[in-house]
Amino acid sequence: MIATETTLDLSVPQSRYIASTKRYKHADGPYRCGKTWALLWAVVQHCLYYDGKNGRGGPARVYIIKETYSALLDSIVADFQTMCDIFCEELVSFPKSPPNVQATFKNGSKVFFRPADDPVTARRRVGATLSMLAWDQIETCDPATFSPFNSRVSMKNVICQTLTTSNPEGHDWVWRKFIDPTAPLVRAGSVEMVQFHVSDNEANLPPGWLEDQKNSMTAQEIKQYLEGSREDFSGLIYPMYREGVHVIDDFEPPATWKKYRGIDFGVTSPTTCLCVAISPQNQVVVYDEYYAVADTLMEHIDRINEMCGDTEFEAGVIDPSCINAHHDKYGRSYSIRDEFVEAGIDVIPGTRDWDSSTSFLRWLMKVNPVTGKPRILFTRRCPNILKEFTGYRTKDSDLDAAGRMYGRDGAHKGADHAIDPTRYVAAYLRPKFIEYDSPEAARKLTPEEYEDAHCWESPGGAPRRELAWQSR
Ligand SMILES: Nc1ncnc2c1ncn2[C@@H]1O[C@H](COP(=O)(O)OP(=O)(O)OP(=O)(O)O)[C@@H](O)[C@H]1O
Ligand SMILES: [Mg+2]
Repeated sequence: MIATETTLDLSVPQSRYIASTKRYKHADGPYRCGKTWALLWAVVQHCLYYDGKNGRGGPARVYIIKETYSALLDSIVADFQTMCDIFCEELVSFPKSPPNVQATFKNGSKVFFRPADDPVTARRRVGATLSMLAWDQIETCDPATFSPFNSRVSMKNVICQTLTTSNPEGHDWVWRKFIDPTAPLVRAGSVEMVQFHVSDNEANLPPGWLEDQKNSMTAQEIKQYLEGSREDFSGLIYPMYREGVHVIDDFEPPATWKKYRGIDFGVTSPTTCLCVAISPQNQVVVYDEYYAVADTLMEHIDRINEMCGDTEFEAGVIDPSCINAHHDKYGRSYSIRDEFVEAGIDVIPGTRDWDSSTSFLRWLMKVNPVTGKPRILFTRRCPNILKEFTGYRTKDSDLDAAGRMYGRDGAHKGADHAIDPTRYVAAYLRPKFIEYDSPEAARKLTPEEYEDAHCWESPGGAPRRELAWQSR
């Protein structure tokens, strides 16, 4: 297929994408992983090969499509010009004023650059025959714009192909058309789906680019736009969680900080204990985590006691269902909580109000725009809760338009074995925040301290900044 010797080095997915002769080729992957470059080079190769000579079809006629003219001119047109200047020197003309944006090769092959909502294409459903359609970032376009272009790809004596690229947007129309194993085109074997990764293209990116991006993205954005995950991220309950914001390496709470622990008991699922410390200024740190499956309750209790050592806890809070009768002992019925208490782990039942305790934990996790810090931090000694934040989500419809939750415990997807005990402790600590936010407390603060403490929404959602300020 490749007509000329080139000095262009291609990554493995780029080579596979370019070499495939399937009717549809889809490049899927995160930012900056070389998808557009592969698409453009495939177009160049196609144009050089199909010159209409020696029984080959042609000259080639290719449409390159992107969302709008400005998207085309900002990126693709410039990349195409650079690529041709450096690696092929076969262009004879390349006007760039819309609607006349087209590159002509010496052999007569032509590439037309068109926006997805091109009115000319929309009017003339049956237009010029194409040998190739190349569509960059197709996920940004209306799916209804696809067929009018695609149906033109029918030139004789040519391997007619439609090339697409996209950034992952969950289970969107692109996924349903080119990736879902049950999609008709996929089932028929007509699609070459090539997964691209940033690591394939690291050599062509500025040093430090990946690290910079990671630090500015949420965990969900990292999975989606840096790792290329097609997972459906809708409905995350803690979407504000960011590794770069909420996680600290390690932390030994000073003696002046009060300590609490939250416990969740599981039989087949893990039993967990999260240790939480709070500063006199109400900074919360979740500093240690027990998370394990074991054969017996006593095994968990021993290991939790071992982890906590001789730390003095102000209080412990346990899953409220652990106060139910569980087994008989010494001639009376015992609960899970009784066993913990008997072993020196004093615990009271946690809240049953999932909705308001979740709201409050979300509020703790919000970032104060003044200090850039959330009210709650987690150390790397708690890897499971950090993992749970990125997977715990509502079932489709229990977030309303304003993002409030209609929560019912049990109506959620994803693990919450470590989130739940943290939520119990957070709910237990909530009165401290209300006290701290009171007008009496506000009067004792300097304006700077006040601004720092009050520039967030109140627990529960309603902005309290104005109110509290007025009552100073
Ligand atoms: N084979 C290659 N040789 C040289 N440079 C390359 C190659 N592949 C990609 N690049 C460079 O890497 C950069 C990123 O590639 P490209 O624009 O194709 O990524 P992308 O996957 O389309 O990213 P995005 O999703 O952000 O549009 C390009 O600007 C290009 O300069
Ligand atoms: Mg691109």
